[in-house]
Amino acid sequence: MRRLDVALGVRSYPIRIGPGLLGRPELFEPVLPGRHALLLSDSQVAPLYAERVLTALPARLQVRVHTIPAGEQHKTLASAESCFAALAELRASRDACVIALGGGVIGDLGGFVAACWMRGIRFLQLPTTLLAMVDSSVGGKTAVDLPQGKNLVGAFHQPSAVIADTDTLATLPPRELRAGLAEVVKYGAIFDAAFLDWLEANAQALLDGEAEVLSGAIERSCRFKAEVVARDETEQGERALLNLGHTFGHAIETEQGYGGLLHGEAVAVGMVLAARLSARLGLAPAADAERLVGLLARLGLPTRIPAGLDPAKLLAHMRLDKKNLSGRLRLILWRGAGQALIVPDVDEAAVLGLLRD
Ligand code: NAD
Ligand code: GLY
Repeated sequence: MRRLDVALGVRSYPIRIGPGLLGRPELFEPVLPGRHALLLSDSQVAPLYAERVLTALPARLQVRVHTIPAGEQHKTLASAESCFAALAELRASRDACVIALGGGVIGDLGGFVAACWMRGIRFLQLPTTLLAMVDSSVGGKTAVDLPQGKNLVGAFHQPSAVIADTDTLATLPPRELRAGLAEVVKYGAIFDAAFLDWLEANAQALLDGEAEVLSGAIERSCRFKAEVVARDETEQGERALLNLGHTFGHAIETEQGYGGLLHGEAVAVGMVLAARLSARLGLAPAADAERLVGLLARLGLPTRIPAGLDPAKLLAHMRLDKKNLSGRLRLILWRGAGQALIVPDVDEAAVLGLLRD
């Protein structure tokens, strides 16, 4: 088992990564002190793993399993409302816990529900996608989507623990695994050129799902994220760097009605756009941008905007991004391998030109 922690004073919490963790009661007992728990999952994950978790939970807990349909289209206020109703039926008090078993959709939704129920109860992240293991389960960003934009309603609310059972990746569809790799590449692009070299060297092993290589990538990614979150929990500064490619990516997801590219795929396209825009603006070497595009393509990720999307509409979605301040387009751009930067007032004409090209 790989161990690391997110250091946030009294709200610090463990991240545990390894095979077989969902079946280990000793990992659950210390982080579930109350009497009630809502085990939240989706229609694809619950039949695979809910029983395993139920068996490992403390016997004193009264648990209600609540399942929502799988997919980003269900990361909504309506799903949150169904969770609140389930918590009410459970008569969950302030010492209750939400256990989020699934990918980033379930983690974001479960965390949001936990942040709101009685103004905040505990929650546990049990990520079952690569994307959730390397990114969304760590750091306490919780949210639901609106038709007008992604993650527009949410809260910062840290989990009590992240337990990533890497055995669950065995059932993950290959396309979902590749989507998770986009977020892994993101850390290299932002923080560490040597990690990008490592990813290039291990691309095939990652695609093949080789356990040791994947676990290594998950641990490295969680370390990058845990360090940034410990320094800037509520994104007053450097945490925004973790959004490299996301403003473009979220615009694509929103314009497609959350039913087109997967989130990780949209982030891959977004990173390509951010890198190429940075090269055009003279911030990053064009060769670095093309190397990043090559790595993403090698990992089986899309590198172009899906056909038929209107650049002007994408730009309109980008204007509603949470990072913008005072109506100015604030983007995470790139200086080249291993270095990102925040640019507070990006020229919209340059962005539109890139989207059109
Ligand atoms: P997801 O939760 O929709 O999961 C992807 C699909 O895989 C779903 O159909 C799910 O049912 C299925 N699945 C999950 N685990 C499985 C398994 N082990 N075996 C078989 N099928 C499995 O998507 P995701 O890519 O995990 O997460 C994307 C979401 O995460 C987006 O909403 C994004 O905004 C959010 N996100 C949040 C943060 C954050 O910091 N909070 C960071 C990155 C992404
Ligand atoms: N996924 C970006 C963040 O957690 O800040």
